[in-house]
Amino acid sequence: MSATVIDGKAFAATVRQKVGGHVARLKEEHGITPGLAVVLVGEDPASQVYVRSKGKMTLEVGMASYEHKLEIDTSEADLLALIAQLNADPKIHGILVQLPLPPHLDSDLVINAIDPAKDVDGFHISNVGLLGTGQKSMVPCTPLGCLMMLRDHHGSLSGMNAVVIGRSNIVGKPMANLLLGDSCTVTIAHSRTKDLPGVVRQADIVIAAVGRPEMVIGDWIKPGATVIDVGINRIDKPEGGTRLVGDAEYASCAAVAGAITPVPGGVGPMTIACLLANTITACCRANGLAEPEGLTV
Ligand code: GUN
Repeated sequence: MSATVIDGKAFAATVRQKVGGHVARLKEEHGITPGLAVVLVGEDPASQVYVRSKGKMTLEVGMASYEHKLEIDTSEADLLALIAQLNADPKIHGILVQLPLPPHLDSDLVINAIDPAKDVDGFHISNVGLLGTGQKSMVPCTPLGCLMMLRDHHGSLSGMNAVVIGRSNIVGKPMANLLLGDSCTVTIAHSRTKDLPGVVRQADIVIAAVGRPEMVIGDWIKPGATVIDVGINRIDKPEGGTRLVGDAEYASCAAVAGAITPVPGGVGPMTIACLLANTITACCRANGLAEPEGLTV
């Protein structure tokens, strides 16, 4: 069997196009320009790349982008003061504080200082609680992107066995909650799971979100299963230079799976598209307008 490749890059472009349409409608009919603020503390190179890319795509869909780049030794009090200012600013509908923060800053404290209605990352404790209890919330972008691709590929996910490998707050746990919400039977596997290959072989849907290059191999995959690869790992090539790989070994998994997301061009582009989608959702809710269909769960 050779797997269908789920093209996240193309899917993300359609999501951004939809978002762009809603931005135009909000401007034209209501005189509202959705605004997204991104806060970056320090100069972590990977974070700088993400933030630049987020800013560019925000402008491309017609939203206002507000970037706040702070020195690495910014105090917690100064960062909290900035967040309070963004919370109070009616031009800003979404706030994202890029993680990881430098070690002297308490990430939980900072994230929980964001107005939950503007928390387009879905990391605030009240959004986590709302999602966990099946209530309307802001949904973390990467799991939301994965769910959109799964729904698009399968239609209904009801009754499917889903194994999420990885238990992070950013991906694994919210992903499991979303799959449960779509009536999957969900297992969260992690570094202490016994017989991980045996657990993964039960899965109709495998979400690989461990951050270990090419850990999931084709031998673990049930024939015809769908593999969603959340990993983005840069590894050295034997001949020199580097390449990007996922948490699943692409060739061996694609030989067995029914469908698979590539790296790059799978989950990655969907994350930013969903950030923009969340900003529209937040903007509509803030203004008492009906939120668009298909941009959130
Ligand atoms: N760092 C890595 N992924 C993310 C994300 O989804 N949101 C934020 N805020 N920081 C990140």
